[in-house]
Amino acid sequence: MTSELRPPGEILVVSRSEVEALLTPAACLERVLETFRWVGSGEVEQVNPVNLYVHDRSGPEPEFGHGVVQAFPAMIRPLQRAAVKWLGSYRQNPRRGLPAISALDLVTDTETGMPLALVDGTSVTNMRTGGHAAVGALHLARPDSHSVAIVGCGNEGRTHLRLLNELFPITSVIAFDVSAAQLDDFERDVDTWFGLETTRAPSVEAAVADADIVCVVTTAPAPVLMEEWIHPGTHVCAATGFRDVDKACAKEFDKWVVGWYGRDLEWIEGPEVGKLGGLQPGDLTKADVHADIASELLSGARPGRESATERTIMTHMGMPALDAAVASLVYDMAVAEGAGTRITLF
Ligand SMILES: NC(=O)c1ccc[n+]([C@@H]2O[C@H](COP(=O)([O-])OP(=O)(O)OC[C@H]3O[C@@H](n4cnc5c(N)ncnc54)[C@H](O)[C@@H]3O)[C@@H](O)[C@H]2O)c1
Repeated sequence: MTSELRPPGEILVVSRSEVEALLTPAACLERVLETFRWVGSGEVEQVNPVNLYVHDRSGPEPEFGHGVVQAFPAMIRPLQRAAVKWLGSYRQNPRRGLPAISALDLVTDTETGMPLALVDGTSVTNMRTGGHAAVGALHLARPDSHSVAIVGCGNEGRTHLRLLNELFPITSVIAFDVSAAQLDDFERDVDTWFGLETTRAPSVEAAVADADIVCVVTTAPAPVLMEEWIHPGTHVCAATGFRDVDKACAKEFDKWVVGWYGRDLEWIEGPEVGKLGGLQPGDLTKADVHADIASELLSGARPGRESATERTIMTHMGMPALDAAVASLVYDMAVAEGAGTRITLF
């Protein structure tokens, strides 16, 4: 943690471009891994997101303005920091030239209660989500995994690949997206980052045929990946629960692992079931889950991958602790590098 001499009413604003320059995949992965450990050992206080739905979702969806505003609060005791992510998700926004997701992370010092920083939360979300997928793959993918299929080549497609690249010797990237423009940009970035040529697949089924690790990170409202397309030995990272992945994967694969029961059961048999697509009441239960990462895999209470032929899947709906801990890291990095803009509030 950085101790900084500054007036109490001053905060540091860290912009998206600054987060992207400061937060390396290696640093993010280390922070995500330690956050899962802190959650598992009870050193984190967090509240599942407070969801403010803008419209009554039982009626017809309006053309625009259908969305949810959410607060993700968490306190990370080992860091002496608390933070809240304030997130807006409006899936029709791109049709009016706005991003579907926008987020701010407000970081506070728990020693004094003073606000420290306002960090672009969208870039933090992108990286920490790739981070939790990578932590899942660390326990569930074959260690020699070298070919990765990215289904949905947007922000998460990129960060999933960048974080997985920290752990696996990736030599082959296979991509599928419904948007040719997205694929063009993705291919350029993969070439820049890894010097790898991306193979464009004609379908999701073709994309996953030779992949060791499959990342499904689309904004599709219904499953695009079917259970029968996944071969033995493959691991699937699913960022939207089962909104864009066939729920049969949960029952038919050898292991379905979630990030942390405290968050993920909300979407399996809790209050979020049936909302925003994905699982419906009765589809799956906790009994279908092999383990969670935070309390069971990291402690060794339950095993990860046990053979080269297992088919595995990890889903995690994103816990507030990850945003808080990674935003706190970004603040420390910004202070150390002299980055960010100081704002006097009082
Ligand atoms: N679990 C979490 O904590 C978490 C966190 C962040 C985002 N997400 C989810 O991850 C998903 C991706 O987020 P993002 O920020 O990368 O979005 P994005 O808009 O940057 O990218 C989504 C991509 O999916 C593509 N796509 C849409 N429909 C498709 C289809 N049928 N087949 C293939 N590709 C398709 C789009 O063209 C786009 O390139 C979203 O659904 C988001 O809600 C989950």
